[in-house]
Amino acid sequence: MSDLLQLEDFTQQQGDMHRPTPVERESVDYRALAKNVGQIGEGKKYHIKTYGCQMNEHDTEIMAGMLEEMGYKSTPNHEEADFILFNTCAVRENAEDKVFGEIGRLKPLKNRNPELILGLCGCMAQEKVVQELVAKTYPWVDIVFGTHNLHQLPELMDRARNSQETIFEVWEKAGDVVENLPKLRKEGIRAWVNIQYGCNKFCTYCIVPYTRGRERSRLLEDVVAEVKELAAQGYKEITLLGQNVNDYGIDLKAYDFADLLAACNEVEGIERIRFTTSNPWNFTDKLIQTIARCEKVVEHIHLPVQSGDNTILRRMNRGYTREFYLDLVKRIRAAMPNVSLTTDIIVGFPGETEEQFLNTLSLVEEVRFDGAYTFIYSPRAGTPATRFKEQVPEAEQKNRLQRLIDLQNEISREINDLMKNQILEVLVEGESKTNSEVLQGRTPTNKIVLFQGARDLVGKVVQVVITEPQTWLLKGKLVSETKEVAV
Ligand code: 5AD
Ligand code: SF4
Repeated sequence: MSDLLQLEDFTQQQGDMHRPTPVERESVDYRALAKNVGQIGEGKKYHIKTYGCQMNEHDTEIMAGMLEEMGYKSTPNHEEADFILFNTCAVRENAEDKVFGEIGRLKPLKNRNPELILGLCGCMAQEKVVQELVAKTYPWVDIVFGTHNLHQLPELMDRARNSQETIFEVWEKAGDVVENLPKLRKEGIRAWVNIQYGCNKFCTYCIVPYTRGRERSRLLEDVVAEVKELAAQGYKEITLLGQNVNDYGIDLKAYDFADLLAACNEVEGIERIRFTTSNPWNFTDKLIQTIARCEKVVEHIHLPVQSGDNTILRRMNRGYTREFYLDLVKRIRAAMPNVSLTTDIIVGFPGETEEQFLNTLSLVEEVRFDGAYTFIYSPRAGTPATRFKEQVPEAEQKNRLQRLIDLQNEISREINDLMKNQILEVLVEGESKTNSEVLQGRTPTNKIVLFQGARDLVGKVVQVVITEPQTWLLKGKLVSETKEVAV
């Protein structure tokens, strides 16, 4: 009971976070900020190690873009790098421990090569405890910069060359959205596009609103311009990225996420539009209808549920009930009968009883997700859930996780088995990682498909008949090289 009271105080404090406030937004141009740095990386190499979500992966593409503009070249071998950067995640504790382990192991390399610049950025850098720990225990780190300071990387590299001390550049709050950042995208077919930064939801277990700040949307015209540019470069698929994509535009008050999807759907040359992550809160009927109507917008929705129990959902501050979520799934499936639904689930949240966990299992059985990312609750310093009593013992958490994974695997396998002998549309991404004679692609519903085919099919949408469904992927045979062929 005391936990619930604490939560109510907390949600009241955060109350106005849920109310949109209009923002006069002017974007800042990166070119104007970075013009003085020049080619300080000429002849030098960089190595970036990325942890966490797709946002971080995309931030890495941006930082690689900036470094390459400064003359640096990438190397897969950190031993020969002049700059090693850890782009970190703070969502769970074990990822943080790994980063400190790696930084510890780099001390001898740094001693041998004092010119080497070591950097730490991303969500961990936003945490006061991490900044203090670096200053006290890992002083051989040269630069620590936060999620709002990405665009300052050239300037920080310049300062680090002339400084003996760790440079900390961590803004607690976000500044203006910076446009025209260079990006070094890994492949030529699929591209990530940021549409929104930050999160206003304050789920009680989650550190993201503290590390990424409040929700800020990019202007619709800036996003569409980037998508058009990607289409002109030959990209076929874009994934619109944000912590809560369906809150896109709330801060701007001029348009919403459905409007953005409809605008991207008009861009010629783009075959598929994905988006992640959605939140059940504010997933409107207008949005459902828009996804169903826009032929390029894929029918795959990643819709984190976190728990199937109302008490736990309330204590997580998720803002919806089990019944609301199930009704939303019903409305989505009524509009898109073949939609693929995936989710995130946390087990062992403080105070979660066996009965409450069984409610999660029963929700999973009822929805029948195509896939789920499953996590053991990890206490994060500064989040309200760390104050909740009755942490669930680790052995019990592990046991619940395994039961959940077993159930989800069974369901994923059953759903994939239904694909046998079906002909599916596959966007070919490249050769399979394990066998260069096999091509890998994805269905609109984001299922991985492996099949034999010539390399020149990469970047095309082809028809594949599924012969061997498995839990995590589908194996098949090429039927036709164009998507127009009737089946
Ligand atoms: N412990 C465990 N899982 C977490 N997530 C976020 N914070 C925590 C935490 N403290 C999970 C949620 C979220 C996903 C990205 O990570 O399921 O949707
Ligand atoms: Fe974290 Fe909740 Fe925001 Fe997702 S919606 S980033 S879980 S606070």
